[in-house]
Amino acid sequence: MVRDTWATRTGFILAAVGSAVGLGNIWRFPFLTGESGGAVFVVVYLALVALIGLPVMLVEFVIGRRSERNPVGAFRRLGHPSWKFAGAIGALAGFIILSYYSVVGGWVLQYIVASFSGGYTGDTGAFFVQTASGTNAIIYHAIFMALVAGIVSLGVRDGLERAAKLMVPSVIVLLVILAVYAATLPDTGPGYEFYLSPNVDTFASDAVNILPAAAGQAFFTLSLGMGVMITYSSYLGEDRNLLNDSLIIVAIDTFIAILAGLVTFPFLASQGQDLVQDGGGAGAVFISLAAAFETMPAGHLVGGVFFIMLAVAALTSAFSILEMVVSYVVDTFDIARVPATLALAAIIFVIGLPTAMDLNYLDAYDKFANNILLIAGGLVLSLFIGWVFASDALEELGQGRGGNGGFDTYWINVVRYVVPIALLVTLALAIQEYVEFLQTTFF
Ligand code: PHE
Repeated sequence: MVRDTWATRTGFILAAVGSAVGLGNIWRFPFLTGESGGAVFVVVYLALVALIGLPVMLVEFVIGRRSERNPVGAFRRLGHPSWKFAGAIGALAGFIILSYYSVVGGWVLQYIVASFSGGYTGDTGAFFVQTASGTNAIIYHAIFMALVAGIVSLGVRDGLERAAKLMVPSVIVLLVILAVYAATLPDTGPGYEFYLSPNVDTFASDAVNILPAAAGQAFFTLSLGMGVMITYSSYLGEDRNLLNDSLIIVAIDTFIAILAGLVTFPFLASQGQDLVQDGGGAGAVFISLAAAFETMPAGHLVGGVFFIMLAVAALTSAFSILEMVVSYVVDTFDIARVPATLALAAIIFVIGLPTAMDLNYLDAYDKFANNILLIAGGLVLSLFIGWVFASDALEELGQGRGGNGGFDTYWINVVRYVVPIALLVTLALAIQEYVEFLQTTFF
């Protein structure tokens, strides 16, 4: 069978960036930064992206391109079928993540409607509460899920490449405009200070929470730990330079997250919101942006365009998750693609319902899937490459670059030692934190 490859030379990067850039950058990053102490969290997050995220992305790329298979088939093809449980961890994570990702995607759809109908006027905090849980949240969760299922059933990969091509520059331009506008507002000082000036004491007193949160965010935002990047890179030609491609993807993704913070925190400060409390809620971005769109020139139009772009960003990410879950199920149970897609979308919709009714459930799903499952997935994949498949992996990484260089030696050592140790520590902290979270939230 001849496998499709990417339609255009840049198709792979566009699709991978489309998967990476999404609600993780614009909604989740500012939300966690607020909740986890501000600038200290940002520093830890950046360090983990460079030290762990980039090497793990290369782990997935090497597995995908070498095997030319999705995570289920990959380990069989590489001669190590017993490792395919890594694919199962990924599929489970995908299931849970998509179930609430779609709920947040539904919020974005509601904000599009509100932008064009003057809906978020008045108290933007109260508007967020109305949006986030209850009947509206459920209806728009259904609409978002239906859109994702439709795109996956039609298999419109080219359409997505085109959507990503338009979305990424538009999101960047809009965020830059908003960041510049934010800088002109009064009373933004505390916002910048909170976001940009790290306080070491905060880390010392709160490392137990900051580490798992930052690691989970690094994996989530880069779409790692789940096998999405394995699937995408399985269509790649041997002439592509994996290191270059991963640097581009990581740089764009990180840049967009940092910009989102440069918008959220000055806005929150200028609106006189409590940064830790309001900035630490799931509504940080929505509340602060809606209030800003109320006052800025042509705000509702800018807001409408912004939320449309955010919806496109969310759709290209959600697509990559559903694709991965569908191919897992289709390959494992040998059922037809379209019915599998529709059935899985329906099941995922139902699983997401509690998170559309109560934000505590959203938190519970989110922490479990990211801080525990994605980290576990990344750990297993790295152990495989570092200890079972190292020499083939190095050969694969050298393809398209004319052999291995100093970076490759660094990479394999990081994958062998640094990544597993760091992820094990993170996982232990995350599990401990999760148990505490469940106790204080639900019991
Ligand atoms: N990276 C996406 C985002 O930031 C979410 C995602 C996570 C997509 C895991 C695929 C896999 O929004």
